[in-house]
Amino acid sequence: MKKEIKIKPFWYSDVWLFPKLVTVITTLDKQGRINAAPYSHIMQYDVMHKKPRMILGFRQDSHTFENICATGEFVINCPSADYLPDVMETARFYPEGVNELEHTRFTPIPSTKVKPPTLKECPQVAECTVDEIIRLEKSSGIVIANIVSILVEEGIPEMGREERIRAMNLPIGLGDADRVDYFYGIIDKIEQYKLKETAETYAVTANMKTGMPWDDDAMAALMKVPAFVRKMVLGQVEKHAAGKGAAHVTLQHLTELTAEFGMDDEVMARFGKKGAA
Ligand SMILES: Cc1cc2nc3c(=O)[nH]c(=O)nc-3n(C[C@H](O)[C@H](O)[C@H](O)COP(=O)(O)O)c2cc1C
Repeated sequence: MKKEIKIKPFWYSDVWLFPKLVTVITTLDKQGRINAAPYSHIMQYDVMHKKPRMILGFRQDSHTFENICATGEFVINCPSADYLPDVMETARFYPEGVNELEHTRFTPIPSTKVKPPTLKECPQVAECTVDEIIRLEKSSGIVIANIVSILVEEGIPEMGREERIRAMNLPIGLGDADRVDYFYGIIDKIEQYKLKETAETYAVTANMKTGMPWDDDAMAALMKVPAFVRKMVLGQVEKHAAGKGAAHVTLQHLTELTAEFGMDDEVMARFGKKGAA
């Protein structure tokens, strides 16, 4: 049995649970003074690489939002769980012009493409400029941000996902009680699930049939092709394989055809054997 919950102001942080990224956003005010504060209302917006963007939500009278509107630049810093006390220190309602970082262990260092500083201790950082600002009536200020640079600690990109999750040790925001007590999850146990798809499961889930047998690696690669072109790729690859007199579809057949679908190398690299490139 479920019970309906009244939707109140700040509903997202009331009963409903929203595990979230914990960041410290650094900005400069018009006089060039540093401001830093924690923010979690943040998500990827445009996932493609031509104009990569994030979407963020702010209290409109926060210093961070005011500074972003005034200067058009900010840095999203992702601290490890070891720095949670410092993250919380930056959440205090200090008067305008106070550099919250002076009350923390964070060290501001120059960013590469924007004026607000980067936090040296954060393993993952995005430098951003404003693409669009939307002021919701009596509610949040929404910022759609261009990501001009993503920087991570040396060694991180070479790690596998589990090792990277452990090395970065990012806390998970779990909301607050009464705007005073903040809850965080610290990653301890990591579960990994592999959803292995076969020609049969694919035919069932996509309501379409393969016309000939597929090698496992070819089928796995097809599953990684974006869903909106998968059906077209399936038909074309089978046609291509049949044209070559093959009795079954191989990974080679699929690779040979990717160019025909207007998938540039960078997009296809994301769906190739290596996964994230
Ligand atoms: C973990 C955490 C996440 C937060 N996320 C947000 C958020 O996404 N949006 C927001 O308006 N305030 C958020 N806050 C509250 C602001 O950090 C807080 O109001 C802060 O004082 C704002 O500082 P500023 O005026 O210097 O920007 C969050 C606080 C914490 C501790």
